Amino acid sequence: MCGIIGYIGDRKACDVIVSGLKRLEYRGYDSVGVVTENGGELYIRKGAGKIGELEKKLGLSELPGNRGIGHTRWATHGIPDDTNAHPHTDCTGEIALVHNGIIENYLELREELLEKGHLFRSDTDTEVIAHLIEEELKTAGDFEEALRNALNRLKGSFALGIIYSRDVEHLYFVRHESPLVLGIGEGEMFAASDVPAFLPYTNRAVFIDDGEYVILSKEGYTVKDFRTGAVREKEVHTINWSLEMAEKQGYPHFMLKEIHEEPKAVKEAIYGNIEFMDRIAEEIAEYDKIFIVAMGTSYHAGIVGKYLFQRLARKVPIVEEASEFRYEAEGVIDKNTLVIAITQSGETADTLAAIRLAKKRGAKTLSIVNVVGSMATRISDLVIYTHAGPEIGVAATKTYTTQLTVLTMLAIALARHLKTVDGDYLNTLEEDLHKLPELIEEVLGYEDELKALAEELEEKKDFFYIGRGISVATALEGALKLKEISYIHAEGLSAGELKHGPLALIEDGVPVVAVAPSGKTFDKIVSNIEEAKARKGFIISLGDNDELRKISDVFLRMPEVDELLSPVVYVVPLQLLAYHLAVLRGNDPDKPRNLAKSVTVE
Ligand code: G6P
Repeated sequence: MCGIIGYIGDRKACDVIVSGLKRLEYRGYDSVGVVTENGGELYIRKGAGKIGELEKKLGLSELPGNRGIGHTRWATHGIPDDTNAHPHTDCTGEIALVHNGIIENYLELREELLEKGHLFRSDTDTEVIAHLIEEELKTAGDFEEALRNALNRLKGSFALGIIYSRDVEHLYFVRHESPLVLGIGEGEMFAASDVPAFLPYTNRAVFIDDGEYVILSKEGYTVKDFRTGAVREKEVHTINWSLEMAEKQGYPHFMLKEIHEEPKAVKEAIYGNIEFMDRIAEEIAEYDKIFIVAMGTSYHAGIVGKYLFQRLARKVPIVEEASEFRYEAEGVIDKNTLVIAITQSGETADTLAAIRLAKKRGAKTLSIVNVVGSMATRISDLVIYTHAGPEIGVAATKTYTTQLTVLTMLAIALARHLKTVDGDYLNTLEEDLHKLPELIEEVLGYEDELKALAEELEEKKDFFYIGRGISVATALEGALKLKEISYIHAEGLSAGELKHGPLALIEDGVPVVAVAPSGKTFDKIVSNIEEAKARKGFIISLGDNDELRKISDVFLRMPEVDELLSPVVYVVPLQLLAYHLAVLRGNDPDKPRNLAKSVTVE
């Protein structure tokens, strides 16, 4: 997730761009770049760091010209450094562009363009687009045709801002599965990833749809379909959001926005890793002594990882909190050990210490990380990125479901490599994996019901979340979400443990949330629910078997999904329930008391 802003009009373009970038910083902030045009010449300044630090250092506000484009980066391919910062240019330096998204087939395109003699400067997927347009220009009638031809060869997600030095009247923008919106002024036009970028100048906006490109001039805009070239009529909307609301795209909190971004984030996690997973699986296939280390929500992802590895790759990882592992594991790690660290931020002190310990003892390290270029990525042998984009809410939501997605992909790739389970089953799982974004979208539709449920439960003091097998992790994560942001006491546990102690706490009206997808232990959890019900617990069950309806006070009918994929879908209603309870109780879910997004101290 990156931020794009473009301007064409009579103002000094760099002023509009720099102020727009500051308002887009929440979308990513590891590097910045600006390109303007003056007298047919492009002026480019870019570098790693935040806009506040680089504005003066790079002289971003001194660039000449009345049209230009800016970018604030959230790295996906290539570490955040000066070279990988956008804009990227073609060989001639006449085309400069910025990108938000992931080009899935960039390796293949890069190969082809290298063979044709193009020179690449960066490690990004973005740079191929500039060279591809340059290549298409050799045969196309004009720039627009070259652009369209190039776009039709791209796979993945992309919002683009493009400037061509030989065409001083226009800027070009594209949208495909990454956001883009136009700001309509008087004698000036804006384009951006998001409304706040131009809100101080205009509140008239045109939302661009997937598969469309825009030719922007001072006086207006033309929107066309990039597959057919047909002109599309667009509606102009008047935005009446405050700046702060606009940053959250109208959502009252970042957490809610991030929950609603999960379908997209999971899709990006799949797209962004599809090419690499087999190679990673091959590199780790020989290891049998495996530790998964992490903290908080990432630790719960590790528990899901354990079940996936067991069921699919027939490997039994030990899942440990990094804070324990770092002091206890020294004597048992050696060069035959694989340590998988899961960390959204890549900066959690305990998790970093665990990776360092593993390295010191000669183990192989693999990190699953969201923040590109973070410390964990620099000290690990192998890295898998979750591609969730920046997460601002302290409670992890979309970064959790993307961690689960890449762990599932890794376990499937391992199973294929090791031939541990039937290939047809793996094919079906893989197909189902691609349906996850749709299924998440479906359960997001339960929001009103969950809000009403939150109202019913607002005064409750204790919650129990139960699950079996892979769903134990969902129970733990559901309870953690509730504790973190609503400040209600909650316990997550394996349902089998209920009658070994916690059942003593279940009395009239105590909420028991049962995570009960169909699968190996469905009948068992039904018995556990009955046990809680017999003690007058208030049963809220999530499942795809209607039998649950009879034994529950509230039943949330979940879409059918393989048990191994169910954690990605089932956690979403629990995130929403925690969110609405927090809001009802007057808490700020984005900034829970006493907690931090990234725990960089021990
Ligand atoms: C903090 C955050 C959690 C997160 C945990 C681990 O406690 O509030 O949301 O799960 O740290 O963070 P990491 O960045 O390593 O995943």
